[in-house]
Amino acid sequence: MTDLLLLPGDGIGPEVTAQARRVAEALTPDLKIAEGPFGGGSFDAHGSPLTDDTLAAAKAAKAVLMGAVGGPQWASAPRDKRPEAGLLALRAGMGVFANLRPALCFQPLADASSLKREVIEGLDLMIVRELTGGIYFGAPRFIEDLPGGGQRAVDTQVYTTMEIERVARVAFELARGRRNKVTSAEKSNVMDSGLLWRRVVTDLHTRDYADVELEHILADNAAMQIVKNPKQFDVLVTDNLFGDILSDISAQLTGSLGMLPSAALGVAGTPGLYEPIHGSAPDIAGQGVANPLASILSFEMALRWSLGRPAEADRLYAAVGRTLADGARTRDLGGSLTTVQMGDAVLASL
Ligand code: IPM
Ligand code: MG
Repeated sequence: MTDLLLLPGDGIGPEVTAQARRVAEALTPDLKIAEGPFGGGSFDAHGSPLTDDTLAAAKAAKAVLMGAVGGPQWASAPRDKRPEAGLLALRAGMGVFANLRPALCFQPLADASSLKREVIEGLDLMIVRELTGGIYFGAPRFIEDLPGGGQRAVDTQVYTTMEIERVARVAFELARGRRNKVTSAEKSNVMDSGLLWRRVVTDLHTRDYADVELEHILADNAAMQIVKNPKQFDVLVTDNLFGDILSDISAQLTGSLGMLPSAALGVAGTPGLYEPIHGSAPDIAGQGVANPLASILSFEMALRWSLGRPAEADRLYAAVGRTLADGARTRDLGGSLTTVQMGDAVLASL
């Protein structure tokens, strides 16, 4: 049985995932690692961005570490064959409804942010993004021709009580192990789905998590507060689309998208899906300059959340911190190390 399935994917995905693999082989040599095709490369080779074999392998593994998908060469592929469609199908197929996206400021990088040092120093924010519902998956969705000319496009935002409650539960549980505060973001002032979101979170809080501090915020205000005073947040729970946007904003707080990992979790006992928050970065793909730390830290999250290896996760996390404290920097962090050299540096720290 596979412990860790690697889906390197497209663009810089294979480059950064290769460094996570080196770390995994050094730190946990007993892990059974396998690799599969995924994304645009899989579409080119097999006619689908997510083959039945890859999905079956993902569901049978203990954890899946993905690189990145997509690139300009697939922009005109049919929508359901695009690399991004493969990623959504993988998330849905694995049932990973809760996406944990930490925005954490490593002390040596406090000056790498575009915000003032005092605003982000010590930042430790966790976004919990609903990942298998909402407007990403809602039906109907279509583009139709209008009789008088022009077209009409429809996407549907839809949430059920069950979908909201299970992701909110993850947020409350996480908060209890952190600073005990949950902020729930929606647009209850204009959207019915936002109204239901607020009600369900409030009810769950009253019923099971009254010991946790709960705050509601409108999603647009959340965007503003994240750049104004991000340290006011502990756990921020929100829907799929708002989570997509707010997690990019919060990722940039830390200086580079190249640093941040994520974990997508389903019900207990099912495999988690781990991926760097950054995309395939076609502009630097193949040059060997991408920062592999987001991928390496995604493996760290896999050790912690799916592989039952918290001690090794702690060791790896500390090693990454030391690597940065020693001054190792890839280009995105203002340095000149290559992807492989950053991998070497982490291995040396380990
Ligand atoms: C993300 C990405 C994806 C998303 C894309 C690649 C489909 O932006 O993981 O945040 O929108 O969820
Ligand atoms: Mg995104």
